[in-house]
Amino acid sequence: MDLPPRPELFDFHGVSMIPCFTDNWENYQNFQARPDDILIATYPKAGTTWVSYILDLLYFRESLEDRQTTIPIYERVPFLEICVPGLFSGKDQVDNLTTSPRLIKTHLPVQFVPKSFWEQNCRIVYVARNAKDSVVSFFHFDRMNKAQPEPGDWSSYLKRFMDGKMVFGSWYEHVKGWWEKQKSHPNILYLFYEDLIENTEEELDKLCSFLGLSPSSESKKQVMEKALFDNMKNNKMANGSADAVLDFKISPFMRKGKVGDWKNHFTVQQNEQFSEDYDKKMKDTDLQFRTVL
Ligand code: A3P
Repeated sequence: MDLPPRPELFDFHGVSMIPCFTDNWENYQNFQARPDDILIATYPKAGTTWVSYILDLLYFRESLEDRQTTIPIYERVPFLEICVPGLFSGKDQVDNLTTSPRLIKTHLPVQFVPKSFWEQNCRIVYVARNAKDSVVSFFHFDRMNKAQPEPGDWSSYLKRFMDGKMVFGSWYEHVKGWWEKQKSHPNILYLFYEDLIENTEEELDKLCSFLGLSPSSESKKQVMEKALFDNMKNNKMANGSADAVLDFKISPFMRKGKVGDWKNHFTVQQNEQFSEDYDKKMKDTDLQFRTVL
């Protein structure tokens, strides 16, 4: 398949974006949410697919067995803002879902979320991941995803991340924006990738209690088993291999799934500069991340 050239970033209401997430802006801003819709919101690379898959298993594993083997996760949990004009849009995919609740993915910063989600008081699961592992994961993703801007070399990429010049904007603003919002919105559950790695069962319990689900311990065990990194990596419906814009020869989508891989990428000097800048950017928040376990 011939792919178009990689896109360029541009400023969109103060956030760096690329056309495939803004072309459908008017339409998705007018999205009509339903009260039982569940929005999975993240800055890219925070474990969106992992949590999408867990939620899909929790809701549909038993009732819809074919779903697990025939429909890729990105179709089961459509990406609201994505659009390739004339080809498809995430909003249409959501509108066409026949299952309920509808599970919907977004990477939008909180101020861009369509107002209907707030009006309908939908439940929102936000997942955050520490900045250092996020930028490493994003770098490898941008290398292998031909629909993303050209990543360039690692040191210039790291600088761009610190400057917030990434698709979906500044990591710092994204995680802080959603953190502030959840303080006044009990229908937002703010989870951390590091907690999910460290204690999947406890986080699964948190999720279930937030969603009002009470799976048996056997069901929970099965969900956790299926959602293990290695099992997802070997699952064609969950590992991204069905997506034509991803080039697995460059890097796998399910890459490492670890906390602390940043240590294999940051030089000592990069780490010092990053941490100093991080402290400045994060001094106005009580939000805390772990970069090692
Ligand atoms: P790495 O690149 O660090 O390996 P997203 O789905 O938001 O794009 O996030 C992708 C990141 O989540 C990748 O991180 C991927 O490996 C990791 N991930 C996906 N499924 C996972 C799982 N079951 N357990 C741990 N990490 C997982």
